[in-house]
Amino acid sequence: MIIALAADHAGFAYKERIKDLLDGLGHTFIDYGTESAERADYPDYAHRASEGILRGECERGIFVCGTGIGISIAANRHRGIRAASCQILEAARMSRLHNDANVLAIGERLVAWPLAEEMILVWLETPFEGGRHSARIEKIDLRDS
Ligand code: RB5
Repeated sequence: MIIALAADHAGFAYKERIKDLLDGLGHTFIDYGTESAERADYPDYAHRASEGILRGECERGIFVCGTGIGISIAANRHRGIRAASCQILEAARMSRLHNDANVLAIGERLVAWPLAEEMILVWLETPFEGGRHSARIEKIDLRDS
């Protein structure tokens, strides 16, 4: 799978670790920035990477900021992006099963690396359940504002 990566300065270190993790799992990725731990604005990278997913360059994304909150809020402004900010394993699993989340957002300042790694593994492997959840997902995009 091709994964879009995005982070601000507060998520930069995890983004770099995630590259190694994805390499080890045999996934490929496109890094939409940021490129260093210099202060950066999370919406810039959320928008770039979300647009990459929507253009079909990547199937899904893993976005990181300090809390996972800001970068997921920005990503969710894009119709067709379903970004789930997760702090526990079950949330990461359910975001795939019920919500077909195409972006996992992680807070580097809130989630310790071993849990972040576990969440990524589960999130990558868990399929969308479909069925009754499909109609609900379609309803998300019915609104313009
Ligand atoms: C940056 O200090 C921090 O505000 C940002 O990474 C993120 O946590 C925002 O939601």
